[in-house]
Amino acid sequence: MSPEDQTPDAVVAEQLGDRLKHVGNVLRASDLARRHGRVSDLIGLVVEATGLQAEVGEICMVNGDRGHPPVPAEVVGFRGARTLLMPLGEMHGIGPATTTRATGTPFRIRVGQDLLGRVIDGLGKPIDGMPRATNGHPRSTNASPPDPLDRPRIDQRVDLGVRALDALVPCGRGQRLGIFAGSGVGKSSLLGMIARSTTADVNVIALVGERGREVKEFVERDLGDALSRSVVVVATSDQPALVRIKAAFTATAIAEHFRDQGNDVMLMMDSVTRFAMAQREVGLAIGEPPATRGYTPSVFAQLPRLLERSGTARTGSITGLYTVLVDGDDMNEPIADAVRSILDGHVVLTRELAHASHYPAIDVLQSVSRLVGEIVSPEVRAAGQAVRQLMASYKEKEDLIAIGAYQGGTDPTVDAAIALRPQLDRFLKQRPDEKSSAAEADELLLDIAARIGEYAGVGPEPAPADPAEQPASAPGGSAAAIPPLPNLA
Ligand SMILES: Nc1ncnc2c1ncn2[C@@H]1O[C@H](COP(=O)(O)OP(=O)(O)O)[C@@H](O)[C@H]1O
Ligand SMILES: [Mg+2]
Repeated sequence: MSPEDQTPDAVVAEQLGDRLKHVGNVLRASDLARRHGRVSDLIGLVVEATGLQAEVGEICMVNGDRGHPPVPAEVVGFRGARTLLMPLGEMHGIGPATTTRATGTPFRIRVGQDLLGRVIDGLGKPIDGMPRATNGHPRSTNASPPDPLDRPRIDQRVDLGVRALDALVPCGRGQRLGIFAGSGVGKSSLLGMIARSTTADVNVIALVGERGREVKEFVERDLGDALSRSVVVVATSDQPALVRIKAAFTATAIAEHFRDQGNDVMLMMDSVTRFAMAQREVGLAIGEPPATRGYTPSVFAQLPRLLERSGTARTGSITGLYTVLVDGDDMNEPIADAVRSILDGHVVLTRELAHASHYPAIDVLQSVSRLVGEIVSPEVRAAGQAVRQLMASYKEKEDLIAIGAYQGGTDPTVDAAIALRPQLDRFLKQRPDEKSSAAEADELLLDIAARIGEYAGVGPEPAPADPAEQPASAPGGSAAAIPPLPNLA
């Protein structure tokens, strides 16, 4: 019977029936038992409660005494019949026998379009002085990565807007790259450059365990006007370990929200090492045994759970850039090792280059993108290989060249490297405010490769004017420094 044929009473009855059915479903799905417990111990960061029935990962409210508001805490484990809770805030007003209440839900944040342009903390609260974003839906910060077979293969490039990366370590849409660097070598500046120039639709940036001062610096100096299409999630080093962990998951959940809307999202996390340290703190507090360098087994279990959530999906994609701290250039440190094995490529920033004012301090020869073959044209790939070869030859003879012991004409590749160095340096160096695109980077790379080709044509006879005698960084540029070639630059 179509609605027009029904009597008004029948319509009302049908609507009422639908309502009742809905209420019935809600009642059936809800957990109506009240679950209370009491605090029995507080050791370090962990609150132990008795009588509490709650699942691991569930949020419980620890009721504050003497006018303190309830403190949310997450179930992180069990010991005997006691539930181990870690507060997601300051532990004010918690005393013996304080009551606790299980909420029945995991930690959730509200995500929606109006998060764009906002700076929030690890728990989703605004810290930019503006009111809470309201038009979103609650979303758990824990989620499973997309099904492996549902993930389209990566075959498109995303512009990072940094020439050295776009040309020599190209990144695919939905690829995950690690950025390995010590402190102060230009990670934040590099992430800011990428956020400003990338062709991705939305940036989600997690700052985990940074010092408070660096946050403002990053938002104002490095990110600048790219903030309007970015969401910044911040948990500074003074925040409880669990909040620092949450910040990483919160940022990932926000990235997933924008991805589900069909966007290409750039998720940047600075740094995964600090995330791992926070997880270690939690693990040790609940009695996990320390394994490699004090990192507990749960750290190595959580890393893939976090990092696998970015990548391609049926709709949209999340390109992931994760920084890893490698102080003292120890690339075999356990976190660096674990992260490198999960991701699809790595970029290494070195202090040596930073000291020489070569910014961004990307060590091209140590950096690889595992998907070059799939995302760039064969010509660009070949040009990249030629440039890498050139740089490797130069590096091999670097010491000799520095002391003037290299004989020009001994090795045509080295001769070409010496002559082309100024042009290559100009190509690789980039000011933070200098925008570029992948197409521009490709063009410049092909140009350099063409000149290498011409040099190879010149050898093996030494060029008329010995290139070794040219100063390595001739002012005025390389074109003038290479007499036998037509001026191409
Ligand atoms: N592209 C660049 N051009 C010039 N200077 C840079 C560039 N990137 C970084 N720097 C310099 O390096 C310093 C440290 O960079 P920053 O990004 O804060 O390092 P990190 O985040 O690794 O601690 C900056 O203050 C700036 O002087
Ligand atoms: Mg920094």
